[in-house]
Amino acid sequence: MIRSVVCGSGSALPGAAVTNAELEQRVDTTDAWIVERTGIRQRYIAGEGETTSTLAIEAARNALDAAGIEGSTIDLIVLATATPDQTFPATATIVQDALGCNGGIAFDVAAVCSGFLYALATADSMLRTGMAKRALVIGAETFSRILDWEDRTTCVLFGDGAGAIVLEARECAADGPGVIATRLHADGAHNELLYVDGGPSTTGTVGMLRMKGREVFRHAVVNLSTVLEETLAGTDYTAADIDWVVPHQANARILEATARKLGLPPGKVVVTVDRHANTSAASVPLAFDTAVKDGRIKPGDLVMFEAMGGGFTWGASLVRI
Ligand code: COA
Repeated sequence: MIRSVVCGSGSALPGAAVTNAELEQRVDTTDAWIVERTGIRQRYIAGEGETTSTLAIEAARNALDAAGIEGSTIDLIVLATATPDQTFPATATIVQDALGCNGGIAFDVAAVCSGFLYALATADSMLRTGMAKRALVIGAETFSRILDWEDRTTCVLFGDGAGAIVLEARECAADGPGVIATRLHADGAHNELLYVDGGPSTTGTVGMLRMKGREVFRHAVVNLSTVLEETLAGTDYTAADIDWVVPHQANARILEATARKLGLPPGKVVVTVDRHANTSAASVPLAFDTAVKDGRIKPGDLVMFEAMGGGFTWGASLVRI
């Protein structure tokens, strides 16, 4: 069977790490509150000249290097972001031009924090149907640019960054590497719980992030544990077969609660929220690359990606590395 195989991963973080103690100087908050409620200790904030596309290009180049693949051979780029450089063109086309693979397919996907799962599913479908052979799937964000720095209930939670994987269509055995199963969902009834209060067709401004955190938290645990079970149910695997869960990094308590519901030991969950905070669409590939580079995730491992974000959108994908 043709499967989309992960050949390499890469990531990028902007120059400056901002600790909770530094935030205490500009926001009415404390390190103790942020750590206790979220597990976040620092986040990276993009500086002058750093944008979603510069982070995406760096992450993509690192992923190509890890895969030992020339950028010019990529014929599909799917980039997940809610903070594109411009309203249009798609940030994916800026990445494409920088990598010198013009002429293939390149577009952005908007599913906020689930964006990487949506991008992965889209690229996987296109690879398996033969529309492309080699894809870059990227999650890249500069959420610091849409935060209300006067709103302590949101501004302490997010950070900037990018992560990328190279996927290649290959003939694989059933127990071989590749994307095994993916499930995606959306429920637009909950738009008002997590949104940006601007946009080109409404206010004509970029807008700022607004969130009812407690309600989002409640939905996140239920939706994520359900979609994880649903994704496994379509396969020959059970939760006990999973080597690593690579979740969207929104809040350490959501990660713990979801793992508990699945009966997974916390030691199998990759956690980077303490260092990166919530980087939206970048968080899953950033966490994945972190765990690959530090030697935790190895070839042959069974990995579950999962995320939930504004919309609501949510999804999970089971992948043999
Ligand atoms: N520093 C200090 N105090 C803060 C604070 C901050 N940065 N932000 C909020 N507070 C205060 C609130 O004002 C409130 O005070 P009050 O009780 O006097 O009104 C108190 O802390 C509790 O606020 P609440 O919002 O109920 O806290 P919580 O335990 O639900 O934690 C979140 C808040 C946002 C951390 C948590 O709800 C969460 O992580 N939600 C999910 C977010 C998420 O996953 N989003 C992304 C999905 S993609």
